[in-house]
Amino acid sequence: MDKDTQEEFETCGECANRLQYWVEQHKKYTVKGRCAEYIPALRYADPDTLGVCIIGYDGEVIKGGEADIVFTMQSISKVISFMTVCMARGISYALERVDVEPTGDPYNSIMRLELKKPARPFNPMINAGAITVASLLPGSTKEGKFAALLDTLEMLLGRRPIVDENVFVSEKETAHYNFALAHFLRAGGNLECEVEDAIDIYLRQCAIEVTVEDLAKIGLVLACDGFHPLTYKRLLPVELARLTKAVMLTCGMYNASGKFAAFVGAPSKSGVSGGIMTAVPPRRHKATPFHNGCGIGVYSPAIDEAGNSAAGVKLLQHISEEWELSVF
Ligand code: DON
Repeated sequence: MDKDTQEEFETCGECANRLQYWVEQHKKYTVKGRCAEYIPALRYADPDTLGVCIIGYDGEVIKGGEADIVFTMQSISKVISFMTVCMARGISYALERVDVEPTGDPYNSIMRLELKKPARPFNPMINAGAITVASLLPGSTKEGKFAALLDTLEMLLGRRPIVDENVFVSEKETAHYNFALAHFLRAGGNLECEVEDAIDIYLRQCAIEVTVEDLAKIGLVLACDGFHPLTYKRLLPVELARLTKAVMLTCGMYNASGKFAAFVGAPSKSGVSGGIMTAVPPRRHKATPFHNGCGIGVYSPAIDEAGNSAAGVKLLQHISEEWELSVF
């Protein structure tokens, strides 16, 4: 091993040790949240779990804590469905049907749908926006639309992920808010398929299984403006990657997006299962690890009142402070 390679290797090893230490330090914040209970199958996750994976521009992978757990994407899937619709039907087509403005409201709020006529969901990261986006997916059947979303994920991950049927079925049985949103949207002419199909697609995408490494992979591609630095392939158009990161930064952590932007400062998307996907674009501070950009996946199922992983947010804040991840 030449000297440069050895130094790089040692630096990466050091980063991994520090990350592991930070995970141990931040586990205490899991008690600040609770596992989502309104989706019956999520109730049984171990609330003390905390795992993280970071993948850098040069392919370095570091992990900390319980990093091999499989969990469902939940709202993180909204990023994938939005990008799929934009790629298949055009960004302007998508934006005519769903806006990109933060709401400051809980993710399942119905309130603003009635305030504007015609109703147009404020952004694709809240449930109203994501149900609309699910109906816009290319394909004439719910199976075809869902397959289009899986195609995007397969392109990003290099494997076709599967659905946790138990999570899907258990959420559908209690999805009263989502059905209410979908009926409201359908009445306003926003859906391009029937309510039942839009809900089926949306809840199925929420039940797609991933690991923190999968989230880090997608985060890395977004961080690199849609270019995959390891395969040298362009997976997403630049303007779509930038738009998606802007929506993640302003709306991805719901009514905690402002605070998250202020104290972590990297485009991120959370899900009620406790996952967070973060894209860290290249920064100017050359002395910090991952200054060429990286993707981060975090999992800790105890969530706070905004629906974001309690320990996951704290851990990301700490990593951001130590390694200067903020884009600001
Ligand atoms: O529709 C729901 O309520 C869930 N399937 C997803 C919500 C979610 O993940 C919000 N995130 N923090």
